[in-house]
Amino acid sequence: MNIQLPLVIKKDFSYQIQTGKGIFKNLKNFVEKNLYPDKVIIITDSNVFNFYEQKIKAELIKGSTNYYILTIPSGEKSKSQKIRDKLENEIISLKPSRETILIAIGGGVVGDITGFLASIVLRGIRYVQVPTSVIAQVDSSIGGKTGINTRHSKNLIGTFHHPSFVLVDTEFLKTLPDDEFFNGVAEILKSMLIGSKEGFEFLEKNVDKLMNRDEKVLNKLIEESIKVKVNVVKKDPDEKNLRKILNFGHTIGHAIESLSYYKLKHGFAVAEGIIVESYLSFLVNGLSEVDLLRIQYIVDKLNLDKNERRKFSFKKVFEKMSYDKKRINNQITFSLLNKIGNCNYNVIVKEELIELAYNH
Ligand SMILES: NC(=O)c1ccc[n+]([C@@H]2O[C@H](COP(=O)([O-])OP(=O)(O)OC[C@H]3O[C@@H](n4cnc5c(N)ncnc54)[C@H](O)[C@@H]3O)[C@@H](O)[C@H]2O)c1
Repeated sequence: MNIQLPLVIKKDFSYQIQTGKGIFKNLKNFVEKNLYPDKVIIITDSNVFNFYEQKIKAELIKGSTNYYILTIPSGEKSKSQKIRDKLENEIISLKPSRETILIAIGGGVVGDITGFLASIVLRGIRYVQVPTSVIAQVDSSIGGKTGINTRHSKNLIGTFHHPSFVLVDTEFLKTLPDDEFFNGVAEILKSMLIGSKEGFEFLEKNVDKLMNRDEKVLNKLIEESIKVKVNVVKKDPDEKNLRKILNFGHTIGHAIESLSYYKLKHGFAVAEGIIVESYLSFLVNGLSEVDLLRIQYIVDKLNLDKNERRKFSFKKVFEKMSYDKKRINNQITFSLLNKIGNCNYNVIVKEELIELAYNH
């Protein structure tokens, strides 16, 4: 017997992203009026909980009896199978239904694991992202990529599962330590380079203010980064083509991050990737020398380049990249700039040229 099951599933996955300062207090109202949950399970990490326990209780839980908080230790180690397993059991013991929602309050780690759990509990329930780090506000909370790490590599297990709502309250960033802040600034820079010439010019003009964590400048750059990400994700939600431009700086960046055994933070590794891949863009993709110098100036000014790559030979980095996901017919492909604010994907580059850019 051979039966065809016709199955074309079309679904609207649209969701709102609200940004602003001090808007966390509106979350409960939004959730209750738009999502009608029977239960709300908040997932956060120990750091964020220490800073914001009172706020979460006063502004979100507010005497409701159907709100619960689960906490995981802070840090990348928590994006693990062990912690996923623990959370899974804790969620199940709260007897969720299809109407239950999860709310992630934290950085990318909390957001990624919460999104992953939301995609598998009862074969999929809704979740809300409340990102509290720069990386999470401009990147990980938007676009529906969820995941956990395994002992083999990062993010190997995961799903596409979009949140029902994202609330970006920049007030949270006040308690973010400097290294985490600048770690996120590297992703802001990447966003401007791939998709916003005006945003990059604004960054150039206000780089000193950004370094002093000026709120107005930061808020504008966060909004601009979110717009870039939204524009890309709406055109290619499944990362089949255009979404690959979000990986600018990441092909080299991931290899350095991994060779440093993740001691170098993701954003700083991406900044080194931006330096190498901008030079590559200049060599093979039409990026002008002036634009190249502008990029190098900003990376230096923001003190993002920690020169970790000098510790690793090109051979080692090339080997690492060869295991990376961004390969087509065994050739390494890059997302490269053709000018500031514009990026091409699937650019195949000869090994000698990658080496030249890496050692530049
Ligand atoms: N899903 C995606 O599309 C996507 C995109 C980019 C990154 N990521 C993932 O995101 C993770 C990195 O995110 P991250 O940098 O936010 O890491 P993180 O969640 O570990 O947060 C970094 C640190 O900052 C602390 N923190 C967060 N908010 C704080 C606040 N307001 N005040 C004080 N401390 C605070 C956390 O407790 C943690 O110690 C990685 O796992 C990465 O793979 C996912």
